[in-house]
Amino acid sequence: MKIQVYLKIIFLLILFGCVKETPPVVVPNIIPKPLSQEIKEGVFILDKNTFLEYSKEHEKVAIFLTDYFKENLNIVLSSDNKEGKIKFITDNTILNDEGYLLKIAKNQILISAKTTKGIFYAVQSLIQLLPLKSNLKQISIQNLEIKDEPQFSYRGMHLDVARHFFPVAFIKKFINLMSILKMNNFHWHLTDDQGWRIEIKKYPKLQEIAAYRKETLIGHYSDKPHQFNGKKYGGYYTQKDIKEIVKYASDRQITIIPEIEMPGHSQASIAAYPELGCTLISSSRDKIEVATKWGIFEDIYCPKESTFKFLEDVIDEVVALFPGKYIHIGGDEAPKINWEKCENCQILIKKEGLKDEHELQSYFITRMEKYINSKGKQIIGWDEILEGGLAPNATVMSWRGTNGAVIAAKQKHDVILTPQSHCYLNHYQSDNKNEPLTNGGYLPLQKVYSFNPIPPELTKKESKYVLGAQGNIWTEYITNPKKIEYMAFPRAIALSEVIWSDSKNKNYSDFINRLEHFNKRLDVMNVNYANHIYDIKGKLIDENGKLFFELKSTSNKFDIFYSKDGSNPTTLYEEPILVDSTMYIKAQVYKSGIIKIGNPFEQKINLHKAVGSKISLNVTPHKAYNTGGTKALINGISGNDKRYGDTEWLGFSGDDIEITIEFDEPTEINSISTRFHNGNGQWIYAPKEIKFSFQLEDEKTVNYIEQINNRDSLLVNFNYKIKATKVIKMKMMIKNYGEIPIGKQGAGNKSWTFIDEIIIE
Ligand code: ACM
Ligand code: ZN
Repeated sequence: MKIQVYLKIIFLLILFGCVKETPPVVVPNIIPKPLSQEIKEGVFILDKNTFLEYSKEHEKVAIFLTDYFKENLNIVLSSDNKEGKIKFITDNTILNDEGYLLKIAKNQILISAKTTKGIFYAVQSLIQLLPLKSNLKQISIQNLEIKDEPQFSYRGMHLDVARHFFPVAFIKKFINLMSILKMNNFHWHLTDDQGWRIEIKKYPKLQEIAAYRKETLIGHYSDKPHQFNGKKYGGYYTQKDIKEIVKYASDRQITIIPEIEMPGHSQASIAAYPELGCTLISSSRDKIEVATKWGIFEDIYCPKESTFKFLEDVIDEVVALFPGKYIHIGGDEAPKINWEKCENCQILIKKEGLKDEHELQSYFITRMEKYINSKGKQIIGWDEILEGGLAPNATVMSWRGTNGAVIAAKQKHDVILTPQSHCYLNHYQSDNKNEPLTNGGYLPLQKVYSFNPIPPELTKKESKYVLGAQGNIWTEYITNPKKIEYMAFPRAIALSEVIWSDSKNKNYSDFINRLEHFNKRLDVMNVNYANHIYDIKGKLIDENGKLFFELKSTSNKFDIFYSKDGSNPTTLYEEPILVDSTMYIKAQVYKSGIIKIGNPFEQKINLHKAVGSKISLNVTPHKAYNTGGTKALINGISGNDKRYGDTEWLGFSGDDIEITIEFDEPTEINSISTRFHNGNGQWIYAPKEIKFSFQLEDEKTVNYIEQINNRDSLLVNFNYKIKATKVIKMKMMIKNYGEIPIGKQGAGNKSWTFIDEIIIE
């Protein structure tokens, strides 16, 4: 619809005095974006004369909407079917169970859907067309027609309540926010090494022992030595709490999927009932306690009859609490070290004719699947359940990338996409140095928005097995509800559009405009969302050998001001800044030229001797950690001090790296410095040594080896001084650290190397 038509409508409304106290929202800003929407002339007046007509099957939604009007707009609907009305209609010609038609006309609002789910989603769209709060007697709603349906049937959010525990009221708030975004599955991660959070009446020690840990790690896992706060921590949801939450979710068309982790991530329950673990010769088993730090733990369930009895009893109580179709059985990150040493496990492997411990895990999961299926439920597991063979009816949640989804879908199993690369909302979301601590990673809003849940390797037929996608929130570093909100929003909002909206309707800048509007709703709901849309991003541009620095913010509604010498930013930014010397850029977005909005921006650009030279590598960085490209190593800009996922760090998986830098002319070198990331918890290890080879002016080559000794900190600084030497070309040979040692996270896997700017002075 054209702007002239909007103006005409507004003009007509003013002319005929139709505008009551509140002007309608003329342009709908609904998130997730509906399939189609068409604005019509006129408005519907919502007031105390409005009557809501519905049949018994949609009563829950009718109560939901009536309560919403009362609580937020102070409008109590009429009990008398007279003037304007809102009508819910069951319409079997609408094919999608969750689809709906919303027709707002002068005299009535007609909501048609095949099921109550569709009616509920129409109501959610209608709510987004209303003022946020109002005390006025009448509310004008723009006439329009919306036709809508989701692209995927599974639209989920996950929340880990084991690493940190959150109150019932917050769980409800989170579920309510999900429902506004038309999400329909809440994956509740209830058990892990650090706590068991669901009351199981048959096993009281799960409440007494497994629900509490004696203390908690302070700071990041990679900060050494580990320090603890000395405070007992824990809690659990009673079965009464759970029933209340299940009902609350069901009223919002959300199914809860409880996750009971097995066979790994089970140290908390083993601490309560040590006999659930393997019987090992070592006596350390008596000392098993609820984990107090993060990571992967070796004490996992032993597949004994008594363990299966325990898990079946647990499942019996879980099944009675959760009416949904799925039980998530975990299955991820189960180290097999104890199974390799345990007599019982080894006897079972022989007896069942299994090849190895992976097949034993498959036996474990298949056996539990059979039990869960016998209760009329289906299992979901993390993608490790593929190893050793998939249980016959299992749905796979692909988290280690999308490969698990591809393999499972090709085996005709349902899959849910939740790859770390696009769906881990506990990763960092901005480059800002002041971001609150997370376990690592980098997942900005736009990357979430760009996600396509269908892996390209799947044929059209195979892609039918993709049920949808889910955002995950692991809470090792998230200690309170405000921080969950900060991590979840706005990224869950972007994800809702990924899974609900037709990809043809997706447009990031249009999304940002609607998000600015949506944020006002979150303000009213007291949600502590992150807002980086006014933050400035800097980009170095090389134009025929001349360097420029470009500044941009995601929302370009307001002006950017900058300085080049670290002083207060007062120069209006109009075009990329010429970088002709080392400079310290500061910038800020200002509204109306005076009100600071968004975070301040700072960037040092160090025009050292390698900037502008030629660089080449023997290997390509891993595609997930190559956003800045090879040039990022000598562009004058250093990476983030705490993280490695930005555009400046390059990451390599297992490779020995050879970097060649060629200078335009013989260049005197006095020092070479760089940094390596050393986040061992993320499988990243600084190298042990670097070999150098310098080609001198006279074509001679000299070689040196430099050891890297101080390798304990999260960032390992490397600084190599040489006698002033004129060099034409240099090579740095960085040998990968090697296999991750036993006892460390990811033991036996290839380690990663992350390298920052190579500063040559
Ligand atoms: C996972 O992140 N371990 C599923
Ligand atoms: Zn065992």
